[in-house]
Amino acid sequence: MTPAPQYRVAELFAGVGGFRLGLEDAGWSVVWSNQWEPSTRTQHASECYVERFGPDGHVCDDISAVIRDPESQPIPDHELLVGGFPCQDYSVAKPLSQAAGIQGKKGVLWWSIYDVLDQKRPPFVLLENVDRLLKSPASQRGRDFAVILSCLAQLGYVVEWRVVNAADYGFPQRRRRVFIYAHRLDHCGFQWKPMRRMYVEGVMAKALPVSTSEASPPLEVEGELPQEPDIELDADPFVVSETFGIGRKTSPFAVAGVMIEGRVWTRRVTPAYRGEQLTLGDVVAKTESVPDKYFVSGDRVERWMYLKGPKSEPRIDKRTGHQYSYSEGGMAFPDSLENPSRTILTGEGGASASRFKHIIEDPLTGRLRRLVPEELEELNGFPRGWTDTGMSDGRRAFMMGNALVVGVVARIGWAIKAEAESCLAGTAPRDDAP
Ligand SMILES: C[S@@+](CC[C@H](N)C(=O)[O-])C[C@H]1O[C@@H](n2cnc3c(N)ncnc32)[C@H](O)[C@@H]1O
Repeated sequence: MTPAPQYRVAELFAGVGGFRLGLEDAGWSVVWSNQWEPSTRTQHASECYVERFGPDGHVCDDISAVIRDPESQPIPDHELLVGGFPCQDYSVAKPLSQAAGIQGKKGVLWWSIYDVLDQKRPPFVLLENVDRLLKSPASQRGRDFAVILSCLAQLGYVVEWRVVNAADYGFPQRRRRVFIYAHRLDHCGFQWKPMRRMYVEGVMAKALPVSTSEASPPLEVEGELPQEPDIELDADPFVVSETFGIGRKTSPFAVAGVMIEGRVWTRRVTPAYRGEQLTLGDVVAKTESVPDKYFVSGDRVERWMYLKGPKSEPRIDKRTGHQYSYSEGGMAFPDSLENPSRTILTGEGGASASRFKHIIEDPLTGRLRRLVPEELEELNGFPRGWTDTGMSDGRRAFMMGNALVVGVVARIGWAIKAEAESCLAGTAPRDDAP
């Protein structure tokens, strides 16, 4: 089926396709995807992606090589560009006035996203990152996110962002990620009221509702009050990179925000969700058989208990020989089946004991065990067996540590589609609307 021309998606850093699963649920069509893992020869994620979605429009190559060679590997036109990318150092090397385009560090994936936006100018963008992005680096709190915002402003986009814990919206995993939505300012020609956008009318507010009673100024009076921004960003990302956050102990970016032409409004918000709450137990209950290697018994249990337990002990720094005192609190052992799980990390797989892997009491046998790959997949909202495409169980767990909660993307994808539809119909909210 040829995709509707107004809802085409290009997916960067596609992994095993979490964005695609969520967006296709919401009515979008992925027409092009890119995935390449620099650290391994075998391209497990790309192979899984192709096995599940087919080879059409999939490119397994370093994104920077793809961008350098648009003749042989062209990225087709699309309405929505999406990608989950790592939190890296986003400092800028030269002022815009001295450089042909912005110059960031090599290998930093944000600059690939920037280049694709610069080449293709899609009307909509949805990005995902760890929530630490809002605070990093420690020496200039918030600088990296400020650089991203100022780049998006310079490319002509308005932005909404939100830190989302998937469990706050009923999903069975506590996974906090920042989602950044950008809309090209000249696309619909409408202006945003920042508070109404953040609390009620925005893509994030529609997809993931928050309590509106906390809005400040209150929503009823917005429009009558001057909309002073909380932060004004310099128009040159280099200046932002050099100056933002110097001397600050904390980042000014709260969990929700809006950026319009370099002016930023940001607030703490409280999720407002009253639907069903899924738990780790709901996911585990669907598992019918568990291979023996997942069970932990005998003296191995003690090792797990030690790593998960509270401790306060003297330790020796192997490099300097210096003795220091080490302490940390205890973790739940086993993990509760009554609550959403903790965040799946990339190290979740493998039999070695660890503080951060999950251990549950198997409801069928009463024995302690790790989670099987199908449970990790379902905790992210992937179909069970999704990554069973020829990689080891450890690799399958790694893929889920890298992936995202598909249902969160589906909610946001649905809200972007509604915005795209109202743009097409010319009914998007205007500042001068009655
Ligand atoms: C955070 S993961 C995204 C996971 C994805 N959203 C999913 O649902 O599986 C980032 C992905 O970017 C890929 N990647 C890293 N460097 C890349 C590069 N230079 N070019 C293309 N992909 C790259 C990694 O292999 C990884 O799969």
